[in-house]
Amino acid sequence: MPRDEIGATPFAVQPQGKLIGAEISQIDLTQPLPDSVFDAVSETFDQYSVVVFRDQDLTGEQRIAFSKRFGPLQINVRSEFNNPRHPEIYTVSNILKDGKPIGSQDAGRYWHSDLCYLEKPTKASMLYAIEVPRREGASLGDTVFASARAAYDDLPQDMKQRLEGLRAVNSYNAMFDRKAAQFGVRPKLNDEAKSKYPKDAIHPVIRTHPNTGEKCIYVCEGYTTQILDIPEAESRELLEFLFAHVTQPKYQYRHSWRKADLLMWDNCAVQHLASFDYAPLHRHMERTTVEGSVPY
Ligand code: SIN
Repeated sequence: MPRDEIGATPFAVQPQGKLIGAEISQIDLTQPLPDSVFDAVSETFDQYSVVVFRDQDLTGEQRIAFSKRFGPLQINVRSEFNNPRHPEIYTVSNILKDGKPIGSQDAGRYWHSDLCYLEKPTKASMLYAIEVPRREGASLGDTVFASARAAYDDLPQDMKQRLEGLRAVNSYNAMFDRKAAQFGVRPKLNDEAKSKYPKDAIHPVIRTHPNTGEKCIYVCEGYTTQILDIPEAESRELLEFLFAHVTQPKYQYRHSWRKADLLMWDNCAVQHLASFDYAPLHRHMERTTVEGSVPY
């Protein structure tokens, strides 16, 4: 049982948002967690979808060890930004070293769910704050999350019926081209380069959370290009509706970063977007992602 006999967790939980988001404190992630504590963390994560562990002074090895408790780790397809010693760690940063980027400079530009372009997308992402930009005493570069579960719940019944059984295309290459054209910090890909990146993945428009059984909207602005088996114009209209619906402020939790935060989110239950309000200040994060199951 993850909770003790009076129903308390073996750490403190402070909800952060109305629907999603909680801070977990009085826990030390530098050490392997006993199974009962780990189970309670997993249960809290399923409940809040986004959890932050503050003031965790963690090495890359310790972050990998903690992440691996949730499942196998993914190696990002943009291998130039994977840590050379630990390829499971992906760098997200606007820092240049000798004129070259040390990490992805445009990760999180569009609302998305991590690695949804794979057959087995990311279950959980862990993002660790190494350098957080600050101006006039406030942190910048927030990450915003939206509850894809609450957004599904609120859909009118006839819309739920219309979406039932529909499947959509999620495309890494389409996202890559769009970001290359819009932000200019990644190369335009030729056909040979594109062939090295993942092929498009087809997933349900509405997917069922594998742990909680709840239904979640699983199309996102960042990667979803088309709903299959319906006319193109209807697909576009439905996608535009769903992208706007799921990202409404009422479903959001906004995370203000502090150095040494380890933030973890559930890529079935939420979508996320990074804020780019800090240049020329530096932001440096490192991410691990845990492989999930095939969406259904
Ligand atoms: C991501 O999209 O995984 C990165 C989010 C962020 O940098 O805030």
